[in-house]
Amino acid sequence: MRIDILTTFPEMFSSVFAASILKRAIERELIDIRIHNIREHSDSKHKNTDDYPFGGGAGMVMMVQPVWDCMDAVTGGENVHRIYMSPKGAPLTQTRACELASYDRLVILCGHYEGIDERIMNIVDEEISIGDYVLTGGELPAMVLVDCIARHVDGVLGSSDSVKDESFSQGLLEYPQYTRPAEFRGMSVPEVLLNGNHAEIDRWRREQAIKVTKERRPDILKDAVLSKKELSFLESLLKEEYEE
Ligand SMILES: C[S@@+](CC[C@H](N)C(=O)[O-])C[C@H]1O[C@@H](n2cnc3c(N)ncnc32)[C@H](O)[C@@H]1O
Repeated sequence: MRIDILTTFPEMFSSVFAASILKRAIERELIDIRIHNIREHSDSKHKNTDDYPFGGGAGMVMMVQPVWDCMDAVTGGENVHRIYMSPKGAPLTQTRACELASYDRLVILCGHYEGIDERIMNIVDEEISIGDYVLTGGELPAMVLVDCIARHVDGVLGSSDSVKDESFSQGLLEYPQYTRPAEFRGMSVPEVLLNGNHAEIDRWRREQAIKVTKERRPDILKDAVLSKKELSFLESLLKEEYEE
């Protein structure tokens, strides 16, 4: 999969893509990430990329010309899916990241300052937000999006089960995880995880996932596919809560 990122701050990406899972994915050619400096496409003498907003108001707005020409140069007229990182976009979800991982090519556009001249939306397919808050630029959101998508690209994670079990993948948050030592400062790992009975471990993990989701994110529980036994476990939790 190839991902092109259009930015006025290319230097921001180097450390994130040079470490951990993303670094390995790039080295193994599972994802090909190319960073493009919008500034190089500016027609102006001083390579400006922003100007004052028409109608007045605070801050600067990214000009349509350099962004449009950068997009044209990167896509070469090909039908590539183009995403603009924007607080006004649709909230990023695990489901959408998984869908985007199936595209051969994506282009991600990062805004800065007060945003980009609205006319650029004519060549954008989708706007994505990483949350209900405003950041200085689209660079951090683009890194979040690439990281999230990469986890769904075949071969990037050691085991495909890692994504299947993760929070949000099955309408549930993940169960609690433990590693050695089994005892630390008087705190023990739940006994069930030490007994080697995989059916019991699976049941415990599912129940813990249901419990934590009910407590913290009841809004996503409606998407969970639960067995009859799991439904009655959930009902018992709700009953306990009601009786308290
Ligand atoms: C300071 S923000 C502009 C905010 C804009 N004036 C507004 O109120 O909606 C500059 C750039 O950061 C990026 N950005 C900021 N917050 C974001 C978020 N929550 N999700 C995705 N991108 C974001 C966008 O690319 C945006 O163009």
